[in-house]
Amino acid sequence: MNKEEYRMQLKEWLSSFQNVVQDEDIRQKAENLLLKMNDERSSEQEWYELAESIAADMNQPEALRDVAAGGHQLPPLPYRYEALEPYISKEIMYLHHQKHHQSYVDGLNKAEVALKKARRTNDFTMIKHWERELAFHGAGHYLHCIFWFSMSPSGKRKPTGQMLRLIEHSFDSYDAFKSQFSAAAKQVEGVGWAILVWAPRSQRLEILQAERHQLLSQWDVIPLLALDVWEHAYYLQYLNEKAQYVDRWWNVVDWREPEARLKQAQQVKWTPF
Ligand SMILES: [Fe+2]
Repeated sequence: MNKEEYRMQLKEWLSSFQNVVQDEDIRQKAENLLLKMNDERSSEQEWYELAESIAADMNQPEALRDVAAGGHQLPPLPYRYEALEPYISKEIMYLHHQKHHQSYVDGLNKAEVALKKARRTNDFTMIKHWERELAFHGAGHYLHCIFWFSMSPSGKRKPTGQMLRLIEHSFDSYDAFKSQFSAAAKQVEGVGWAILVWAPRSQRLEILQAERHQLLSQWDVIPLLALDVWEHAYYLQYLNEKAQYVDRWWNVVDWREPEARLKQAQQVKWTPF
């Protein structure tokens, strides 16, 4: 690769995360690298060392800005509305992105702000309503973020490497995977999604149908702490006193597991929107 190509590649790399990084040190280093790249006297070795140190800093979880409660945004599409024609029309893409996805973003923000207020005032009378809104709009927002970025007018049409190996391991073959995924998608009852997921516990890929996506949480999250409130979990002892079971459950909670899970979960970093 010649110097000019390397310069272009580094510039592209820098612009890919400039809106996502909040860390001042990293921003400073990135600016420094840009200056160096415009200075003919500096060498590619210097650029490389700076880029390497930026990449190392980026690996710290604090480097990515978080999304404050009520601060979600509609991600811009990485292509034009007509880019997926003739398979998906410009009109659909425009409405789907500008109207439908935007309303999920607005609904999610509204639910998060309402829950923040509920915590501040210790008034949880509307908890069921807002938790439902949080799941419905949250799932809508997060799943659309995955959906838009998993399409492209000129993308990679078949998986390779580790993804292909895991698909073959989990579904026997790529064709079998495609058949199962398509069948699952066609037979989602009513509204919903077909979703390829990674199951960290079984270390396999799986295909799931999300009928009414809100019923299966937000789909972009990693569970850390779970309390079973099915009747079988308390009925023999507490009968219909579910609230008492919940209150007393805190006496046996062990935070070591959620903390360990959090540490692992934080390794996963996606672009915030
Ligand atoms: Fe949609």
